[in-house]
Amino acid sequence: MSSRDHWGNKLGFILAAVGSAVGLGNIWKFPYVVGKNGGGAFILIYLACIILVGIPILITEIYIGKKSQLNPVGAFRFFQKGKVPFSPIGYAGVLCGVMILSYYSVITGWICHYLMLSFRGFSGTETEISTIFDHLNATPWLNVAWHTFVMVTVMLILMKGVMKGIEKASKILMPTLGILLIVLVCYSLTLDGMKDAWHFLTYPDFSKVTGGSLLEALGTSFFTLSLGMGAMITYGSYLKGDVNITKSAVQIASVDTLIAFLAGLVIFPIVFSNGLEPSAGPGLIFKTLPVLFAKMPGGHIVSIAFFALVLFAAITSAISLLEVAVSFVVDEYKFSRIKAILIMGTVIWVLGILSAVSSWNIGGVPFLDIFDKISSCYMLPLGGLGTALVFAWAISNEQKYAEIGSKPINKILLFAAKYVAPLLLLVVFLREIGLF
Ligand code: PHE
Repeated sequence: MSSRDHWGNKLGFILAAVGSAVGLGNIWKFPYVVGKNGGGAFILIYLACIILVGIPILITEIYIGKKSQLNPVGAFRFFQKGKVPFSPIGYAGVLCGVMILSYYSVITGWICHYLMLSFRGFSGTETEISTIFDHLNATPWLNVAWHTFVMVTVMLILMKGVMKGIEKASKILMPTLGILLIVLVCYSLTLDGMKDAWHFLTYPDFSKVTGGSLLEALGTSFFTLSLGMGAMITYGSYLKGDVNITKSAVQIASVDTLIAFLAGLVIFPIVFSNGLEPSAGPGLIFKTLPVLFAKMPGGHIVSIAFFALVLFAAITSAISLLEVAVSFVVDEYKFSRIKAILIMGTVIWVLGILSAVSSWNIGGVPFLDIFDKISSCYMLPLGGLGTALVFAWAISNEQKYAEIGSKPINKILLFAAKYVAPLLLLVVFLREIGLF
């Protein structure tokens, strides 16, 4: 075990964890989910979910990883007390990561395609530009080619190791992402639509909030913080020495939330300046934005910066998704890191082909949607629930306080992890499967 790779320093861990958290969930999903749910009021609910459930579970996962120094399966086994096995929570997490990466890589491939098109510049009529997406979707070889490119890139980064691969990539990509985002926010500040966008994002109109909004807020917060499938357990397992877990979790969640909000602040002014509706759905960044990039002054450069930013965010998340599966194979089957990456990368690549060929479906529902639904609506909340229950009932308060500290803030967060988070997750899950 002494051969386990570790982060070079605390900043490396924070940047890698932020890299995992900040991804398509923040820049692609969050803005359109906010758009669909009416803006400011939804953001308030989302913030409540981050504070009451997200941060407590994030603390839990980092703790479980750091204490056990193992992959999710080994980590849950490490904490097992009685006869009931805990490791299935870890297995489900690894499976969930495999499933998410299989389609995440396909969507990241779309981003690569749009980045390439950005260099040429978007032009043509509105219909022409918005059909780029339909054309891409209807061309399986192109989708598979980009998916392959993304998987190979992620595998190559992982082959360099935890410190020289993941940490180094995060240390380059995350600050670049931050700079690109600030530049884009400054650009959006100059647009007429900024006032409407600010109002839309901050004015709580509760009339648009439905019962489903809470579910969507909780689901999105889980997805965007990379919780419920062992990514943060895996990253926590590469920590050693004295680390303030609560502080790290708050930092990671704050940066993640801030970036989601800023992404909204980039996208909505562009949308409003052109008199469009914010509720365009998943096509928001692939169909709506390119049309606007073609029209606006400086749109060429803005679109390059925008898609590069999304690509960096997605790559660092994809890295963490593959790392979960790799650490599992390395720890449990004692495979070399390279062999584990080749095997798991190939398995995920093959599975991803199902999503890349968009005409393949089950009962009319494309594989990408099926995998997304199963993983983010069912497996993540269930995984989070399992993690919270193990943390709450199999680990004594003394053990937790010894690692996390017993200041009032820690006690409050541990209380939330023990009671509030599992309860809310249970409610969400039961609603999701239609029990009430
Ligand atoms: N958090 C990532 C995002 O927001 C997605 C992700 C989910 C990454 C689960 C790792 C684990 O896009």
